[in-house]
Amino acid sequence: MADSMIYAYIFYISFAIFVIGFIYRIVRWANIPVPLKIVTTGQGSIDNPKSGFSMILRMASEILFFKSLFKNTKYDIETNVIKSNRILWLGAIVFHISFLWIVLRHFRFFVDPVPSVIAVLHSIDTITPTLSFSGILIVIALLYLFIRRLVFPELRYISILSDHFVLLLLLAIVITGNLMRYSIRVDVVQVKQFMLSVLTFSPISMDIPGIFGLHLLLVSLLLIYFPFSKLMHAPGIFFSPTRNQINNPRHVRHINPWNYPVKIQSFEEFKKEYENAMKDVEE
Ligand code: HEM
Repeated sequence: MADSMIYAYIFYISFAIFVIGFIYRIVRWANIPVPLKIVTTGQGSIDNPKSGFSMILRMASEILFFKSLFKNTKYDIETNVIKSNRILWLGAIVFHISFLWIVLRHFRFFVDPVPSVIAVLHSIDTITPTLSFSGILIVIALLYLFIRRLVFPELRYISILSDHFVLLLLLAIVITGNLMRYSIRVDVVQVKQFMLSVLTFSPISMDIPGIFGLHLLLVSLLLIYFPFSKLMHAPGIFFSPTRNQINNPRHVRHINPWNYPVKIQSFEEFKKEYENAMKDVEE
């Protein structure tokens, strides 16, 4: 047990870093000029979008279904065959959907009264009173994503510390969460009371159970780490010119937005200026 104020202040600082860092990176991306068409193309109107609508469909298929990851292939050096690699797609999609589901369900701790849509999401996920599907699925998906980087030598070679760190951090958060759900129970009414007091900037002083404190500290660490890490791919995909551009350079004239008026000389002016000199040379 520890006093809650320290957790509240750590949460405030980390949330502020998250918001400022997030906005800073978005503003920087938004200001980077993209003067050229560098859209990646495939076949069909969605993978080769010629209109804004097709481009939006393309982005939606990436964001909602991870389409290009689904089409991802793997070269098998032993059989010299290119194979599809759907298991990575499955691991990724299960992780992301469970994560989203868990975060939405957590809103029952942050808002009062709980909106009915959150209550419905919660009831779908918790078919039996204790078991939470998303909480279990996310552990399986994270373990898969972590172990594949260790087991396959080619993946181990291209993995850096931050690849492992982020998966371990997420695992630590979900494991402490699951511990609270299945073994070291905490008083969720008290948790909600505390979180509401934090979110209304009037944190109350109370004893925080160690396991909840740890869950909260790990979440704070995630908030601090997020804006400076590859986790920024979440908003970053919207700024990806290879995906968000329309492939219309043969239909629409693309004028360099930086073109400034250049002083040019017309042929008549040129002739007028050099006519006599040229005549002299010719003679
Ligand atoms: C300020 C933010 C957060 C607070 C206050 C919080 C609080 C809690 C509490 C009190 C529980 C226990 C629920 C129960 O006994 O029914 C829990 C469970 C859990 N938490 Fe968090 N949490 C936060 C953020 C997160 C985040 C960002 C994740 C990341 C995925 C996460 C993942 C989980 C999981 C997987 C469980 C267990 C099962 C479940 O309810 O789905 N939590 N959390």
